[in-house]
Amino acid sequence: MKRAFIKSYGCQMNVYDAQRMGDQLRASGYTMADGPEGADLILLNTCHIREKAAEKVYSELGRLKGEGGLIGVAGCVAQAEGAEIIARQPRVDFVVGPQAYHRLPALIAAAERGEAPVETDLSDDKFQHLPRKVTARGVTAFLTVQEGCDKFCAFCVVPYTRGGEVSRPEADIEIEARALVVAGVREITLLGQNVNAYHGADGGLAALAHRLSRVPGLARLRYTTSHPNDMDDRLIAAHRDLETLMPYLHLPVQAGSDKVLKAMNRKHTADDYRRVIDRVREARPDMALSGDFIVGFPGETDADFQDTMRLVADIGYASAYSFKYSPRPGTPAATRDNQVPDAVASARLQELQALLASQQTAFNCALVGQTVPVLLEKAGRRAGQLVGRSPYLQPVHVPDTIGAIGEIVEVAITAAHGNSLFGEPAAGRAAA
Ligand code: 5AD
Ligand code: SF4
Repeated sequence: MKRAFIKSYGCQMNVYDAQRMGDQLRASGYTMADGPEGADLILLNTCHIREKAAEKVYSELGRLKGEGGLIGVAGCVAQAEGAEIIARQPRVDFVVGPQAYHRLPALIAAAERGEAPVETDLSDDKFQHLPRKVTARGVTAFLTVQEGCDKFCAFCVVPYTRGGEVSRPEADIEIEARALVVAGVREITLLGQNVNAYHGADGGLAALAHRLSRVPGLARLRYTTSHPNDMDDRLIAAHRDLETLMPYLHLPVQAGSDKVLKAMNRKHTADDYRRVIDRVREARPDMALSGDFIVGFPGETDADFQDTMRLVADIGYASAYSFKYSPRPGTPAATRDNQVPDAVASARLQELQALLASQQTAFNCALVGQTVPVLLEKAGRRAGQLVGRSPYLQPVHVPDTIGAIGEIVEVAITAAHGNSLFGEPAAGRAAA
């Protein structure tokens, strides 16, 4: 049997795509390898979001070029750079963009004939063609419900690498969710570049969440990534009404200055964002908030950056991702003449990350002494330990006598360390 190795970079959608490509390759007779050594097929599922991510692909290709098998480049670098990848690294046998993964068997066959196929058509709907069958996923899984983006933030490559916004029909999503549950999954994270703009069901993402909440055996639902302008009343109400919908919201704001938000083409102000958060917290007071931030966007002054610091201080995040602005080819902001010097951006990033880290620690420490339901996911690093997730997405380390993987158990939190929590069985509380 032939062996394939898939390595994924970047976001959770790439993780999902890698699993779907794995399903596809298994259907055409491959088994999955744990590493590139001796594999018949090596597939790099790449990310183009920042320059560092995109450049990683070429250093990895340099390391891999001595391997014997076919090498394919998939993902967002494949979409953005197409045939240029083979020009820069001739060892690459084929290139496949994110909407063409169902064409993998044909591309592999062409590559085996010595052709160097490049397939970057964005107009096809891969979901109509990928195999229905899913192979074991563990206790938690991703499920893509919408892809692409029509918002055109001035810094972002996604509208170009993933194309326009497309939502999958709710019936197809339910079929996939049920297949995942049969494969042992108890928690599904619904994925989309603008997941709360999902329009494959009347009633949007809220209606989809209600529908999936009725799937027997599915205990927890999450979704990511959302845009503040698409946080509608129905979705906010679903956080109040649905026990399955976990109290964790990743809602990027990017910056706290209205001038910068306008230059970013975000189409909302900092106060719009504050009001959305207020409504969310009214519906679900314990909501853990997460966000994305960019510092050093063209034209950002010290005063603008302090607006971001103030917004972060006002909101209080449970976790967050922050980045230095990286000019991306083809995006409007890349060619602006008011770029911020790298040293200034680095200093701002450090200041912001220190504040976000202290907020994360405070959020974690506040749970010590409380009891939370934990979904047991896998064996821990130490013998006798399991790791699960709290409703707020923190990893929780517990003794393995507490229950079996896949169960939800009540855990008394005893300590918070860095990014994770430690706990013990809560006395007298039954498992779900
Ligand atoms: N430079 C830096 N960060 C970026 N992001 C997107 N594009 C860029 C860029 N050009 C960040 C945003 C987005 C996250 C996925 O990556 O914060 O929300
Ligand atoms: Fe990378 Fe963004 Fe594409 Fe995800 S959507 S794979 S983070 S470029």
